[in-house]
Amino acid sequence: MTDAPLILGLESSCDDTAAALLHGREILASTVMGQNALHRDFGGVVPEIAARAHAERLDVCVQEVLNQADVSLADLDAIAVTSGPGLIGGVLSGVMMAKGLSLALGKPLVGVNHLAGHALTPRLTDDLPYPYLILLVSGGHCQFLIVRGPQDFTRLGGTIDDAPGEAFDKTARLLGLPQPGGPSVQSEAATGDERRFRFPRPLLDRPGCDMSFSGLKTALMRQRDALIAEQGGLTPQDRSDLCAGFQAAVRDVLTEKTRRAVALYLDENPQTPAIAIAGGVAANTAIRGALTALCAQTGLRFVAPPLALCTDNAAMIAYAGSELFAAGVRHDMSLSARPRWPLDQKAAPLVGSGKKGAKA
Ligand code: KG4
Ligand code: ZN
Repeated sequence: MTDAPLILGLESSCDDTAAALLHGREILASTVMGQNALHRDFGGVVPEIAARAHAERLDVCVQEVLNQADVSLADLDAIAVTSGPGLIGGVLSGVMMAKGLSLALGKPLVGVNHLAGHALTPRLTDDLPYPYLILLVSGGHCQFLIVRGPQDFTRLGGTIDDAPGEAFDKTARLLGLPQPGGPSVQSEAATGDERRFRFPRPLLDRPGCDMSFSGLKTALMRQRDALIAEQGGLTPQDRSDLCAGFQAAVRDVLTEKTRRAVALYLDENPQTPAIAIAGGVAANTAIRGALTALCAQTGLRFVAPPLALCTDNAAMIAYAGSELFAAGVRHDMSLSARPRWPLDQKAAPLVGSGKKGAKA
């Protein structure tokens, strides 16, 4: 092994319990235990159930990555943990686990912002140099950030209400499709006509990079109810056309707002024309395709990390922790769990609240 630090990462800010072992930029082991089955009957993540599951499963995940990588706790150089933002009970479970390990082993503790984990992933996967632009787009987040360093972010804009993944999930629920909604809406949309129903393109008439997605589900509900009133139900083709129309609206809003964010970014950083994408919605082929085309037009490098590292995981937390560790960041037993923690402290707070609670 080289002398790069060996870092244990822990993640428990929403509904995935995760641990990973990272050596330099090599992921030695990574495990994610999802909680879909625990929350399915409630139509959303129940914070108390999530927190209890994290508390019960974090040690299982840690043991699993130690076994996978054939590493012992004594070999660790540091413990990195998501200390916010997120559902507070879950974040607390991770922070308590990390503090216990740090205290018992005498190893340094590094608290990591979950969003920084997502935002630095293109450096873990593609060694992308600073600065770059990133679009974080998932069930809990939607924002454009200029990333200049592990603690240096500027937010150019974000959603003022729902995150796009949330809008996909709600759309699926309204149409009786399975959760998570993104993949099911995408596959229905594949056989649909995106022009049959009119969906708004919210906030495109306003300058800037802020976005809004909550109106789309209202539009969908109206069209659905009108069809049911007219015909007594939905045909499979109606469902596909509604999904295609909805997905096209999300795609168009994200593409146009990305065009604006890119222009703002390039004004300041013409030497490093690069944009990355992270978050579950980055898996959407229509959205990915539109952003790839936009980058080809504007000569931008487009980095889309593999999906397992775009969605919530602990390798990204270990990686962000390793950059902070290298910069000399250390936390002690006073490290607190933070429900809100904007990456860009100077930007106005985002007011929407997603499945992770209030947006950072
Ligand atoms: O990043 P993630 O795993 O968790 C957080 O929200 O933090 O993202 C999950 C979200 C869900 O809302 C899911 O519906 C959405 O990503 N998603 C998709 C697709 N695959 C997952 N949305 C659109 N199209 C997809 N193919
Ligand atoms: Zn996330």
